[in-house]
Amino acid sequence: MRARVLEQPGAPLADAELTLPEPTGDQVRVKLLASGVCHSDLHAADGDWTVPLPLVLGHEGAGVVEAVGPDVRDVRPGDRVVLSWYAPCRRCAQCAAGRAWLCTGTRALEHPAVAGVHAYLGLGTFAEAALVPESAAIAIDPAVPPAVAALIGCAVATGVGAVLNTAGVRAGESAIVVGCGGVGQAILLGLALAGADPIVAVDRSAERREQALALGATRASDVAEGVYDHAFEAIGLPETIETACEALAPGGTAVVVGQVPDGVRATFDPFVLSDREKTIKGSNYGSCRPPLDFRRIIDLDMAGKLDLDLLVSQTIPLESINEAFASMREGTVARSVIVYT
Ligand SMILES: NC(=O)c1ccc[n+]([C@@H]2O[C@H](COP(=O)([O-])OP(=O)(O)OC[C@H]3O[C@@H](n4cnc5c(N)ncnc54)[C@H](O)[C@@H]3O)[C@@H](O)[C@H]2O)c1
Ligand SMILES: [Zn+2]
Ligand SMILES: [Zn+2]
Repeated sequence: MRARVLEQPGAPLADAELTLPEPTGDQVRVKLLASGVCHSDLHAADGDWTVPLPLVLGHEGAGVVEAVGPDVRDVRPGDRVVLSWYAPCRRCAQCAAGRAWLCTGTRALEHPAVAGVHAYLGLGTFAEAALVPESAAIAIDPAVPPAVAALIGCAVATGVGAVLNTAGVRAGESAIVVGCGGVGQAILLGLALAGADPIVAVDRSAERREQALALGATRASDVAEGVYDHAFEAIGLPETIETACEALAPGGTAVVVGQVPDGVRATFDPFVLSDREKTIKGSNYGSCRPPLDFRRIIDLDMAGKLDLDLLVSQTIPLESINEAFASMREGTVARSVIVYT
């Protein structure tokens, strides 16, 4: 199969021809139909985080099950699936507590290798196929277009989940979103669904601000002004995380969704945490339980309550991955989605 591989941090992804073995145990081999390009892939490619090399990046994928190992029960060949990048172990204390997104037994974070090449978060969707644990392959309605299905695997689960699950936003509460790329756009859709009002979008890109208004923002600006019940940061910079913390009304919560390079620190005013009962909270994978949340999100999309089509900025072939990274660095495109033919 064709794949694009990271060989050195900062280097363009290189063309490679790889062979996946037959699935064993609880493994599922998925032929990929589409893969989104998320800023977390770019963080890893740029060397912001330490990752094992060589590595097939990509963790926002959807496809069709090709073959399954003998212990697989939940999916069969031919099933359409969205891949989850946090395959839970189903055994640790966090899994037992129903917080699979915080599983401590997952192997995903080791980026396990297949035939000497590592797969990012155990997926590696910048390739024509992936070998994943059963708990990472969530069967879905085949009617969902592949490009949209792929985005459910990261941006949508992360963004909509941050609103509904992590923050528990209620109708009429006010919210600000700092950073309106792929993940921030999904946060905006989630806020509109939850009935937040006003919904303020902040981004340095005029194009992102314009799109934000189409996704449910009631106002868009290049600077954060005012205070809100909820402030979402979806960039991953200390200064914008600090901006989100400072944009809180008394009793408000800042939700840090963006991820910083290793070792980066941000500061906050501890006095207002006690005196004004403010909260700073992190959100991993939208605190979502993929088998539950992926299907719920699809039902909402099909009911016309969550217009996920709007999140696909452009579809590209795998060959254009390095150009997609370049436009993400420049901020010219929100979500590129690789479509495999
Ligand atoms: N918590 C999670 O589970 C999770 C999941 C997925 C992605 N992430 C992280 O979320 C972040 C966003 O991911 P994405 O794919 O949406 O990225 P993206 O590059 O598509 O979006 C970033 C947006 O921020 C804007 N921006 C950049 N710097 C800015 C600044 N100084 N002021 C205002 N706007 C600015 C850009 O114009 C762009 O629209 C990344 O750090 C990514 O790693 C976290
Ligand atoms: Zn992602
Ligand atoms: Zn676990």
